[in-house]
Amino acid sequence: MKIFKPFLAVFVCCLSAVAMNAGDIAAVGKTPVFRADYRVIPLPDAINGIKNTSFVLSQEKLINYPTGNRDMERNAMFLSQYIEDMTGMHLSIRPSRITKDRTDNITLLLDNEMQQEEGYRITVTSEGVEISGKTPEGVFQGIQVLRKSLPICKNVKVFLPTAQIEGHPRFGYRGMHLDCVRHFFSTEMVKRYIDIMALHGMNRLHWHLTDDQGWRIEIKKYPRLTEVGAWRNGTTLGHNSPVNDGIRYGGFYTQEEIRDIVKYAQDRYITIIPEIDMPGHMVAALTAYPELGCTGGPYEVWTKWGVTDDILCMGKDNTLRFIEEVLREVVDLFPGKYIHIGGDESPRVRWQTCPLCQQRIKDLGIKAEGNQSAEAKLQGVLTTHVQQYLSKFGKRIIGWDELLGCDVDNTATIMSWRGSEPGSKGALLGHDIIMTPVDPLYFDYYQTSKTWNEPQAFGGCNTLKKVYDFEPVAPELPADKRHHILGAQANVWTEYITCEPQVQYQVLPRMAALAEVLWLEPQDKDFKDFKARLQYLTEIYKLYNWTYRAKSLVEEDEEKE
Ligand code: ACM
Ligand code: ZN
Repeated sequence: MKIFKPFLAVFVCCLSAVAMNAGDIAAVGKTPVFRADYRVIPLPDAINGIKNTSFVLSQEKLINYPTGNRDMERNAMFLSQYIEDMTGMHLSIRPSRITKDRTDNITLLLDNEMQQEEGYRITVTSEGVEISGKTPEGVFQGIQVLRKSLPICKNVKVFLPTAQIEGHPRFGYRGMHLDCVRHFFSTEMVKRYIDIMALHGMNRLHWHLTDDQGWRIEIKKYPRLTEVGAWRNGTTLGHNSPVNDGIRYGGFYTQEEIRDIVKYAQDRYITIIPEIDMPGHMVAALTAYPELGCTGGPYEVWTKWGVTDDILCMGKDNTLRFIEEVLREVVDLFPGKYIHIGGDESPRVRWQTCPLCQQRIKDLGIKAEGNQSAEAKLQGVLTTHVQQYLSKFGKRIIGWDELLGCDVDNTATIMSWRGSEPGSKGALLGHDIIMTPVDPLYFDYYQTSKTWNEPQAFGGCNTLKKVYDFEPVAPELPADKRHHILGAQANVWTEYITCEPQVQYQVLPRMAALAEVLWLEPQDKDFKDFKARLQYLTEIYKLYNWTYRAKSLVEEDEEKE
């Protein structure tokens, strides 16, 4: 249950000292005073003990962190940078063990007694501010809250009202996806996307790196994947129009760049989950190595959108070797527990007529059963093979919900995209589930039904309110299965999203709504209140020059509120 002690509205600019002690008044003179507001997005679980006293932020204050703890040192550097971004004040950081150092300063602390791994507690008194967490990750989340509560204003007095603020996320998996295939984005853009995620308390980046329209990850053993597969001869205009712009398009990330991005994300407590989609969505790889397909090609990196019949041939030993060798390099680049192996939209028509695939089915003794074809089971064989291969490196797979139809064992985590129902079904079978239903979590969909003045999107209509109202755990799911719902993720496919401002426009402010879905208990959500708080969050978007859909803040929602 969240307990709120509402206090004065945002950033009351008061020339008279309302909430200051005598010393403060003398120091303030005629300098405007801005008060921090802790009612940020996502909303803390509790804001207690608000008093008429404050901690006064100033350049002279220090940020203490536990001596010798590199994670906490980095946290302190982040806080210092954020305070400078918001207020122009530069606070130095200092390793500290002694309690007296803490007085009149900001202190970052680890507290083993705290329950939640990612939970935070911010204690503000007139003497100092403490940001505590059980882990450095929790402290980082507390830092995000403090950062968002500050005014964006230079040369003013900033008062932090005395309070105790606590919070922790409802779900451990709080994801954003980014398709860097259909359109390619620079390493700087990906880092900014990570910055946006960190501000919103998101912690998993699902990075879509391979598809029919390009191969975007350097694999040393297979250089043609990027020499050939990373480039396409033009791009269809719009939704698969007959017109192709004829402009060669592509790009890829070197392994060095990937390591750099992985570290950048790790520093912000964001784990990157790479997706190598198989056996479908593989035309870029087939163009580079046509012998891996059933027909042997020739193939051409796709210049249009959709689903193709050309997928990896499962009758060839080379295909499995290729997959293993690619994944071997992927495993070394991404230290997280999960590798996403796709598995979606994989027509099996080539397998039905390929003598080698049919021979494989025969050799393995695979038989169609009920409405499950032998070819569907063959995809299961591939998935299980990959699952076992990756488990040698301590990794687990995530796959799209099509895998539920392929006899895959329940150590595979499933992303439920064709609605929430596959997720519930998978949870009943004992799979861990990440909810990412097209409706409402495809952020490449429109944000309004009035689309005439919107940048081109996939279709659909996922309004801010629809996202805010999303509930990841279906009410009918039995209590003993609910823990399988690890969280949720918004997907950003980029067929029609060509540049960074358009990506930002599609995700902001919907990411803010998703953040509250993933941090708050359903009974604590309140759309009207969220929208009021969103006004201020968008000021932070402006500070960083991030593009966002401002209309979502003012227009009447199309849903009934
Ligand atoms: C998907 O949108 N094809 C997972
Ligand atoms: Zn084949």
